[in-house]
Amino acid sequence: QPARAMDLVEEESGAPGEEQRRWEEARLGAASLKFGARDAASQEPKYQLVLEEEETIEFVRATQLQGDEEPSGPPPPTQAQQKESIQAVRRSLPVFPFREELLAAIADHQVLIIEGETGSGKTTQIPQYLFEEGYTKKGMKIACTQPRRVAAMSVAARVAREMGVKLGNEVGYSIRFEDCTSERTALRYMTDGMLLREFLSEPDLASYSVVMVDEAHERTLHTDILFGLIKDVARFRPELKVLVASATLDTARFSTFFDDAPVFRIPGRRFPVDIFYTKEEIEAACEMLQDRCRRLGSKIRELLVLPIYANLPSDMQARIFQPTPPGARKVVVATNIAETSLTIEGIIYVLDPGFCKQKSYNPRTGMESLTITPCSKASANQRAGRAGRVAAGKCFRLYTAWAYQHELEETTVPEIQRTSLGNVVLLLKSLGIHDLMHFDFLDPPPYETLLLALEQLYALGALNHLGELTTSGRKMAELPVDPMLSKMILASEKYSCSEEILTVAAMLCVNSSIFYRPKDKLVHADNARVNFFLPGGDHLVLLNVYTQWAESGYSSQWCYENFVQFRSMRRARDVREQLEGLLERVEVGLSSCQGDYIRVRKAITAGYFYHTARLTRSGYRTVKQRQTVFIHPNSSLFEEQPRWLLYHELVLTTKEFMRQVLEIESSWLLEVAPHYYKAKELEDPHSKKMPKKTGKTREELG
Ligand code: CDP
Ligand code: MG
Repeated sequence: QPARAMDLVEEESGAPGEEQRRWEEARLGAASLKFGARDAASQEPKYQLVLEEEETIEFVRATQLQGDEEPSGPPPPTQAQQKESIQAVRRSLPVFPFREELLAAIADHQVLIIEGETGSGKTTQIPQYLFEEGYTKKGMKIACTQPRRVAAMSVAARVAREMGVKLGNEVGYSIRFEDCTSERTALRYMTDGMLLREFLSEPDLASYSVVMVDEAHERTLHTDILFGLIKDVARFRPELKVLVASATLDTARFSTFFDDAPVFRIPGRRFPVDIFYTKEEIEAACEMLQDRCRRLGSKIRELLVLPIYANLPSDMQARIFQPTPPGARKVVVATNIAETSLTIEGIIYVLDPGFCKQKSYNPRTGMESLTITPCSKASANQRAGRAGRVAAGKCFRLYTAWAYQHELEETTVPEIQRTSLGNVVLLLKSLGIHDLMHFDFLDPPPYETLLLALEQLYALGALNHLGELTTSGRKMAELPVDPMLSKMILASEKYSCSEEILTVAAMLCVNSSIFYRPKDKLVHADNARVNFFLPGGDHLVLLNVYTQWAESGYSSQWCYENFVQFRSMRRARDVREQLEGLLERVEVGLSSCQGDYIRVRKAITAGYFYHTARLTRSGYRTVKQRQTVFIHPNSSLFEEQPRWLLYHELVLTTKEFMRQVLEIESSWLLEVAPHYYKAKELEDPHSKKMPKKTGKTREELG
């Protein structure tokens, strides 16, 4: 049964169609576009493209506005036919003819670099070949890492289907806060971060016979760290097989790093792709694209528009891969996840805007920011390649040939060189790796970044003055969250408020917005949001939202009425449960502050005293670095402008905005971090009362 846009929407919340439609209407936050043939009765176009506010670039969804008759097609295949066709597809993949040769090479070499075009079958087939070959005998496991959660989930699901087993039995996946594996799971797809955490419980990975580091060319922070650790383990576990799989990029570097390991090349089949550059401004090109969408809509019977992005619920991902019904077309709107991690059959046209979202990090100020930056030439070529998988294709680049030549970098800078390292340093320290300066990095991180991470961990009490892990540091490493967040959770023991802190932590982990603001109901939505405000700031607002939702029996109707995103809340609930399960391991008991929010605020301060700002005559400055920063207009404290505050994160958009801010008292800083703050630097140079700022309202800011 092919996916219909309406199914997609209905299944997601399980709500009846009518309620769901209201939901959708309520979500028309950032942009919407109606297209398709007009319905005879209502004169409304049939489809609507919805851009969610909080995920403007990442999430586009089509909702079918009017009912439509079922597409008529051939009868659904029988189970036996399906099984046969799955096997036929497996045999048709480029890797298949090399099965024996590949297995022989793996038998002969401990480390093998495998290079092959995206879609050649590396991720889904090679672990299966190893399984068939007996590498999982005697309870041994095969790990295959993916940089992205969604890839781990979807390939595991695909492989389970190919093997005819239930996901979570022989084949499973594990990603942060979600474990779909069991005792008998021999093929384990997991994020690279999860394999890193495996080292904590099993430093020699003794239960694994094969580790396949997949998508190695992505060079994520976790993948880079894995390289160093695995190289080391491989030395004293000669029977461990290490596979490094990558698209056709960078393989020589991997080979050199692994002591000149051989490279196994799977020849790809590629059809030619014509590349078209834009002559216009980007915006003009976008308009043209929308126009084209509308025109297409009136010519064809059905246009499936399917989103794919990193946090898409697993049940929805499968839809992307289902064959398009006869006579229809499929539009996939994707983040760079579709660049290499996933392969969708039948793509002939690619539109490449030439951008990606990229983290960058300033070790001098300790500021991390997520910005939209031009992608690299390597990325652009990879994107174009998606068009030539099944036939000759076309790639429309929404930038000029000149820009491609002169403005794009050759390759993307590896993440390890543009991110904070607190998390990873803590992990390495708990694995007993002390000399980080001499750790075997493929590309070393900047010296200052490493130093700053050590300093921060020292300030958080995770390391002692010799740089050794403390008891508290060991506990912090147990929790799968950032060091500051783990510190906050540990501190909730002292302030007897772990119930509340768990909620705050879970809400902070859900890295998408909790509230939504539909354009036609701005006033209602803003009122609903303001109703959750509590004196103290955004962390308490998050706590308040969650508590009221829990009291409603975790109801989706409640979310709808209060302009709260049900999906984000559901995820927060999952995360909270998992964190609660870990409390015992870190010796924190369950306790509640009984409404004494000062205790909650102090516990948060104990984790985030590094992220503090004070109000000066010229606005907010961070306390230590004296950087100019601003309260995000969405914050409950935007108009309050308290003298001292802490923030969860800084995001650089038009300015350096602090997101999720909490009002604190400077004396708390001395209480929670006496080793870090001196009373003198917390003195207020100004008169007692600061004139209250008349900050711009969010409407003025647009
Ligand atoms: O890893 P690599 O890019 O080499 O290929 P793969 O991900 O193993 O994909 C092999 C084939 O499986 C492709 O033709 C994909 O379209 C298909 N596939 C799928 O149908 N569903 C998935 N979730 C993953 C792959
Ligand atoms: Mg792959």
